[in-house]
Amino acid sequence: MTSIEQPASTWIPGPILGIETSCDETAASALAADGSVLSNVIASQHDVHRRFGGVVPELASRAHVESVERVSATALEQAGLAWTDLVGIAVTQGPGLAGALLVGVNYAKALAYALNIPVVGVSHLEGHIASAWLKDPAFPLPCVVLVVSGGHTHLYYKNPSGHCRLLGATRDDAAGEAFDKGAQLLGLEFPGGPAIDRLARQGNPDTIAFPRSYLKNGSHDFSFSGLKTSLLYKLQAMDDQSRMANVADLAAGYQEAIVSVLVEKSFAAVRSSGARALAVVGGVSANSRLRALLQERATSESLQLSLPPLSYCTDNAAMIAAAGRQALRTGLRASLDMDAHASLSGSFSLSG
Ligand code: KG4
Ligand code: ZN
Repeated sequence: MTSIEQPASTWIPGPILGIETSCDETAASALAADGSVLSNVIASQHDVHRRFGGVVPELASRAHVESVERVSATALEQAGLAWTDLVGIAVTQGPGLAGALLVGVNYAKALAYALNIPVVGVSHLEGHIASAWLKDPAFPLPCVVLVVSGGHTHLYYKNPSGHCRLLGATRDDAAGEAFDKGAQLLGLEFPGGPAIDRLARQGNPDTIAFPRSYLKNGSHDFSFSGLKTSLLYKLQAMDDQSRMANVADLAAGYQEAIVSVLVEKSFAAVRSSGARALAVVGGVSANSRLRALLQERATSESLQLSLPPLSYCTDNAAMIAAAGRQALRTGLRASLDMDAHASLSGSFSLSG
């Protein structure tokens, strides 16, 4: 990261703006001096990418260029703030699509220069993790955090001082990727996760059995590629008519195999870490079946659960502003030659 440390004493609390352009959502959010969310504006590009069945990087960058100014101005307007009220800017530096990230990073740097205020680059992952505390700033530490999105399926132990240690991660596809690829095989529309979620409500998860990969020896890692192959083989063995007749049961069974592994492994990690709290964040945490199972299980095991509201699950800038606020408070500032990092994995509070 191209951040430099300055004494924390130079930081005077005030409103900050978060900007997120790592993939296919242009988002901006203003936080008040106390960290509460004043606005959370998201311009989705789903309509741009839908006919291609996935995100087209060049189109994503162009759509960010067209929207980033308007979305940021709207976030300020909804918050009742003027540009000159801002005391800092946080922007997603990576991981994500290089061209898309560059739009946000360059816009944030230009704003910071024009307003003469600090800017900080934030890891998108760090942002998702911070989303667990947006609604409930008092959610306890230590806790286990499951980050489940289109690019990540990572389990962390977050210690009492806020540092994250990686417990396990996917060895192949991320859970969101498994949803998206499964949806594509089933002929559903992009984005696949919400489409499977909706269709699965009309199906029976027990009619068609799918494999669940738990891996050996209490591993906290995940693997979803076998599940996708199993769906492919089942579809190849059916004719068009039986595919249509069974599509809801296929979606329900496929979804159940993903979410049951996520739930089992998250609670196993909580048990083995000794923590009494679990936070589940990222786009897949919007899944209605996953949310229901997590809530049921947390109640039966008397564990505290943080499941952010849906607007904080999928990509948003409130989470980036929240993670950036922590960084600014500890004295981190980026220099104006900050670059985007498409494969950035950690940042100021993530460690190996
Ligand atoms: O966090 P996110 O918005 O972007 C990334 O950082 O990747 O996550 C996007 C992923 C996609 O794979 C999308 O299909 C999945 O989250 N997703 C869902 C649901 N809503 C979004 N997966 C399952 N059920 C949902 N309701
Ligand atoms: Zn994300």
